Amino acid sequence: MRSLIIVVSVHHGNTRKVALALSEVLGGVVKGPGEVSQEELVSYDLIGFGSGVYFGKFHRRLLRFVENLSPCVGKKSFVFSTSGLGKKEYNRSLEKLLVQRGFVVLGSFACRGFDTFGPLWLVGGMNRGRPNEKDLKDAMRFALEIQALCERG
Ligand SMILES: Cc1cc2nc3c(=O)[nH]c(=O)nc-3n(C[C@H](O)[C@H](O)[C@H](O)COP(=O)(O)O)c2cc1C
Repeated sequence: MRSLIIVVSVHHGNTRKVALALSEVLGGVVKGPGEVSQEELVSYDLIGFGSGVYFGKFHRRLLRFVENLSPCVGKKSFVFSTSGLGKKEYNRSLEKLLVQRGFVVLGSFACRGFDTFGPLWLVGGMNRGRPNEKDLKDAMRFALEIQALCERG
């Protein structure tokens, strides 16, 4: 099974840590949206899309990448994010966008990430050390579930 993980992680590299944990299980390549062409996507069986959450949304570069894709009918995918609040609900908008582009979304993962945005830096930030070892273990467990779903067909 060939898998690709597309990630944007600009604040503290939090989401990139999750992407690397996922790729350890899936054996996949980790790239930024600017490093992937539409033609290349065809050669993968499973594609993960993730970023930090900024003002309630995925990073613009990731959203623009997905918005500009031609339909990828039946292509298996998953979504992941890190955020201050760690809410899985943040993932819904990207899941919806992927479904609109023809993707099958097999699952979604979210966890907290170190956040020093705005006044938070005055108090040393929140979620220091996140994603932590447990978060990354949870991400790997999620990857195993996705892998099983993908292989089941
Ligand atoms: C400009 C900015 C806006 C943010 N907005 C939110 C937000 O709306 N909700 C939230 O839970 N976290 C928010 N955060 C926190 C980030 O989502 C969190 O730190 C995330 O782990 C960053 O991921 P990254 O290091 O991969 O970029 C924001 C951070 C920044 C820098």
